[in-house]
Amino acid sequence: PLPPQFRVPLPVPRVARPVGTDGGVDRYEITERIGTAEIVPGTRTKVWGYDGTFPGPTFEARAGREIAVTIRNELPQPTSTHLHGGVTPPDSDGYPTDLVVPVGGTFDPSMHHSSGMKMTVRPGDWTLHKGQKSYRYPLGQRAASLWYHDHRMDFSAPQVWRGLAGAFVVRDDEDDALPLPKGERDVPLLICDRSFTADGSFAYPAKDPSLTMTPGVTARYMQGVQGDVILVNGAPWPEMEVTATRYRFRIVNASNARRYQLGLTGGARFVQVGSDQGLLTAPVRHDSILVTPGERFDVVIDFSGHKPGSTVTMTNALGAGRTGSVMRFRVTRRASDDSRIPTHLSTYRTLRRSEARVTRQFDFRLTDGGWSVNKEYFSPSTVLARPALNSVELWRFSSDFHHPIHTHLAHFQVVSRDGKDPAPTDAGWKDTVDVRPYEVVEVLVRFSGFRGRYMLHCHNLEHEDMAMMANFRIV
Ligand code: C2O
Ligand code: CU
Repeated sequence: PLPPQFRVPLPVPRVARPVGTDGGVDRYEITERIGTAEIVPGTRTKVWGYDGTFPGPTFEARAGREIAVTIRNELPQPTSTHLHGGVTPPDSDGYPTDLVVPVGGTFDPSMHHSSGMKMTVRPGDWTLHKGQKSYRYPLGQRAASLWYHDHRMDFSAPQVWRGLAGAFVVRDDEDDALPLPKGERDVPLLICDRSFTADGSFAYPAKDPSLTMTPGVTARYMQGVQGDVILVNGAPWPEMEVTATRYRFRIVNASNARRYQLGLTGGARFVQVGSDQGLLTAPVRHDSILVTPGERFDVVIDFSGHKPGSTVTMTNALGAGRTGSVMRFRVTRRASDDSRIPTHLSTYRTLRRSEARVTRQFDFRLTDGGWSVNKEYFSPSTVLARPALNSVELWRFSSDFHHPIHTHLAHFQVVSRDGKDPAPTDAGWKDTVDVRPYEVVEVLVRFSGFRGRYMLHCHNLEHEDMAMMANFRIV
């Protein structure tokens, strides 16, 4: 039985608090553990959560102020935590084979059977941390809506599905100074789909439900796993009470494989103020926004024209039946609002093609029955590109299917899509882009922050677990 729609209030995850500060670095401690949540009303769901919750706590951080997050793993399986969109040193980037082994547990690399998935991980490729690991996030970057999630080799998809994801907001003075909605009217919306069994447990077609050895999903899920229940901040089709004012929503598509084309009923519009990597130069109005897994849209919705008592539904034009809606807003009353959307938001340089010293092609495609990048399956030791630190390159992503392509560390600007201008939803600095079947998307990527090994990959998490990942090394 599917949960009812628009009955559960929208939860807002609690904000993570530092446990202390050492030399200007805020220290956080998070424990990954099993928790329970009432997701489908009247049932209990066992979740794998950061601090036992799904979504995990929201991080509120300042650009340029380093934080250190100790992740302690009390789950049954290893994890690796990735700050998606973070400018993070390589050893804190959540590399898939850089594992936090459960407290008191062991991890035997020889037990690892990814050969069936055509991946080549050698025993020496693993880095193992016993029980916990401290991740360092210097956050030398603009204000932006990031998110964090599990990235364990071969098992990211089922582990994120069980709950290992949360929002991570970076703020800075430039963003704070804008008259955009703030405080309780600045809300993360982590959208993802899940399926449930009759007793309320998460349903996921893992080949090995213990997530110990054999990775992957059964063959009919080759394209990715989609659920029939849409969750926002962990609640099914929630309803949020709003006043008739403007709100800022930080939309994250945290789904494994589902794309959404979000729209609003009642004549409401999205005014996009930020992309994956922060403020746009100027606001962009959209009737609908296409959001691919891993992408973020920072939008303002103005409810001032809506009468108290009326509702506005966030719809999904790519869904059918119940997956055609996401959540609902209920306008409760009029209220004063001194927020506005300035016509100018931020200034950043538009990269030019002539700046790119190197052009590379990354082809995301089914090869011999597996998802590959340039016909190769992921191996920690294969490096497909060696861009120079502080250089700009033109990367061309080509594809045989819908593949959301994500680059770690490096951010990019989309310069063309299918030989034409980018779509309105491609604007701004980004780290994830929707590449559609038989399309070529060209992006100008800037490599800054750190040298070392990073990855680009398909953010359809099933594709990712099936080896659609590649390394680049910044030199
Ligand atoms: Cu959000 Cu490598 O991932
Ligand atoms: Cu893919």
